[in-house]
Amino acid sequence: MIVHYKLIDQTMTSFNIAIIGATGAVGQEMMRVLEQRHFPVKEIRCFASPQSAGKTLLFKGQHIVIEELHEGCFQGIDITLFSAGKKISLTYAPLAVQAGCLVVDNSSAYRMDPGVPLIIPEINSHALHNHRGIVSSPNCTATVMLMALAPLHRQFKIRRIVAATYQAASGAGQRAMLELQEESRAILENRPFTRTAMPFPYAFNLFPHNAPMTASCYNEEELKVIEEARKILEEPELRIAITCVRVPVLRAHSEALNVEFENPITAQQAKDILQKSSGVTVLEDWDQNQFPMPIDASGRDEIFVGRIRKDLSNPNTLDLWVVGDQLLKGAALNTIQIAEKLCLQYQK
Ligand SMILES: NC(=O)c1ccc[n+]([C@@H]2O[C@H](COP(=O)([O-])OP(=O)(O)OC[C@H]3O[C@@H](n4cnc5c(N)ncnc54)[C@H](OP(=O)(O)O)[C@@H]3O)[C@@H](O)[C@H]2O)c1
Repeated sequence: MIVHYKLIDQTMTSFNIAIIGATGAVGQEMMRVLEQRHFPVKEIRCFASPQSAGKTLLFKGQHIVIEELHEGCFQGIDITLFSAGKKISLTYAPLAVQAGCLVVDNSSAYRMDPGVPLIIPEINSHALHNHRGIVSSPNCTATVMLMALAPLHRQFKIRRIVAATYQAASGAGQRAMLELQEESRAILENRPFTRTAMPFPYAFNLFPHNAPMTASCYNEEELKVIEEARKILEEPELRIAITCVRVPVLRAHSEALNVEFENPITAQQAKDILQKSSGVTVLEDWDQNQFPMPIDASGRDEIFVGRIRKDLSNPNTLDLWVVGDQLLKGAALNTIQIAEKLCLQYQK
């Protein structure tokens, strides 16, 4: 097999970075996360669709001119972060690899490719070593779920997960967030409103996730969570049932998880493990009946877990309530954590 990507020079201390989809809900967070985490950026280049070309984005106080994506644009770039949808990744990520870039892809294009590691750094960094130039960041709903469940699985082995999700508008991108705000305003002002981003009324409503339906009667979002969770946990037979729902929340996904374990586990044991888990915060106030809300998680790096309790209807089973900012840990933050790991790998 020909490996096209270059081994980043071991003496490199900073990197030329490209963001594909820099104007998007995730792309803009990537810019912020790179800055906040002091990622060693030598030069940053921002790419988006032709309609954004020539506009600017701020990075470290500097106006970066947005460029139109084209085949030859990857020359001189060390790491390319893709966040412009599956089609763009399928077309351009191989070209980026050929040009010598390491690619971290936030789309679903390569996640289930056996030759592409699918990584949540806190869970399966070990799988990073086998990449051939492309590494994928998982589906946001899967990431929020697994941040809470992987540490429990390691010690008590999960037998089955039954999940219901409450997914924010930002999961569908910038346009969906704007539309939720505008539709809400229109309803409150008793004005007519024409939707362009979402297929159904969204403000003051909710609907089962609108990802394409499959013959299994699970939609594609639900299947992504099932398949990606199995790949990340390296449990190809793991039993997962899931219903994904879009709720009129701007940012941060919530998930109700019913989890059956092979081995007996108490709520306190789960809480103790999660309190020690990197990237997870347990937030429970049983006296006040207060547990994580999307408003607590918005803009935060950690995944919040609460209402950890025994399922009274089934042995060895817990119920958990999990909330996380899917634009951060579910997308931008996770992508950049992967890039950090890749840089460290090549600097060793
Ligand atoms: N939103 C989430 O929570 C989330 C979580 C995990 C993964 N993801 C994945 O991340 C990716 C981006 O999602 P998003 O929510 O940020 O979507 P978004 O807000 O709709 O942004 C899409 C981005 O793609 C760019 N783009 C569209 N067509 C393009 C083209 N022909 N050439 C170059 N750039 C193009 C857009 O540029 P313009 O502004 O110029 O149109 C924009 O920057 C998707 O693959 C999504 O599945 C999203």
